[in-house]
Amino acid sequence: MYGIIRSWLFRQDAERTHEFALGILKRWHNTPLSLFWKQSIPDKPCEVMGIRFPNQVGLAAGLDKNGECIDAFGQMGFGFVEIGTITPVAQPGNDKPRLFRLVSDEAIINRMGFNNEGVDKLLENVKATSYKGVLGINIGKNKVTPEEEAINDYLICLEKVYPYADYVTINISSPNTPGLRNLQHGTALDDLLSKLKASQAELHKKHDRYVPLVVKIAPDLTADEVTVMAKSLLNANIDGVIATNTTLAREHLTDSQASEAGGLSGRPLQDKSTDVIRHLSNELHGKMPIIGVGGINSAAAAKEKLAAGASLVQVYTGFIYHGPKLIKEVVNGL
Ligand SMILES: Cc1cc2nc3c(=O)[nH]c(=O)nc-3n(C[C@H](O)[C@H](O)[C@H](O)COP(=O)(O)O)c2cc1C
Repeated sequence: MYGIIRSWLFRQDAERTHEFALGILKRWHNTPLSLFWKQSIPDKPCEVMGIRFPNQVGLAAGLDKNGECIDAFGQMGFGFVEIGTITPVAQPGNDKPRLFRLVSDEAIINRMGFNNEGVDKLLENVKATSYKGVLGINIGKNKVTPEEEAINDYLICLEKVYPYADYVTINISSPNTPGLRNLQHGTALDDLLSKLKASQAELHKKHDRYVPLVVKIAPDLTADEVTVMAKSLLNANIDGVIATNTTLAREHLTDSQASEAGGLSGRPLQDKSTDVIRHLSNELHGKMPIIGVGGINSAAAAKEKLAAGASLVQVYTGFIYHGPKLIKEVVNGL
């Protein structure tokens, strides 16, 4: 069924299709038409970061940036749904076109640039949902915020989303916001992590609820940089790490759109992100859970991430290419 819908959708402009699909999910989730995507997934619970996940397969950030379709993604059977990246203030993102399907590579290139409606709007959507599952909220900085003031943007978002999230992801790895990836290194990283942990401690007291902090990293870090990153994450007592975001690398691509600027996701990212997970896992010595993401398009690909050291996985591009049945296939195969 999804194959037929996909062949029509893939003939349309990528971003317009994305908006159209989100519109359908949003409008139809509480009507009988939700039967098109509703599926029951076997309960295969696991506990990570003190949270009980009904299964290990989550939706990665960026597909539902404003949290408009949380209910529909819950109906599909995801074990957890991550919304965002959200910034303190709404922003339009980069100029269009900025989203490209590389069909022959089963990949996507995007340079969206954190287009989103701002954290307050996202929270309105979260409050309106009837979803009872695990919700991650992914936070970032506004493009106009100078790099040296980036910490404030994360602190603003963390304080606002804290009461509504099961975990909060600190996105310092999108390639489409100038300077963002610099936050992955040196004192900029250590400062950011220590301020966020201090804020988390205050918020824990205030709300009488501990919400884990998770850092999302790039696949383009060198092995040495991953080693240093792992040390910083452990020193700061961060609760988890998501590996990885999209890559700037362009290897073995065949599609005519392969030279578009932006972050590459999907099948060509699969091994690169698994390598980062494996290295990270060796450096973390089991002291911090890893959420593995990058190119998962089958149960076998998800198993590779788990074998490399991940405790949970997320999908984005594989979901675009294969539809909701991918969730079931992966959960059944694990
Ligand atoms: C169009 C698009 C937009 C994305 N936006 C975000 C984002 O806002 N925040 C984020 O942390 N990751 C974002 N990502 C990265 C994904 O969450 C994921 O880490 C990456 O695509 C690798 O997984 P995949 O190969 O399954 O797509 C985006 C990915 C795509 C394709």
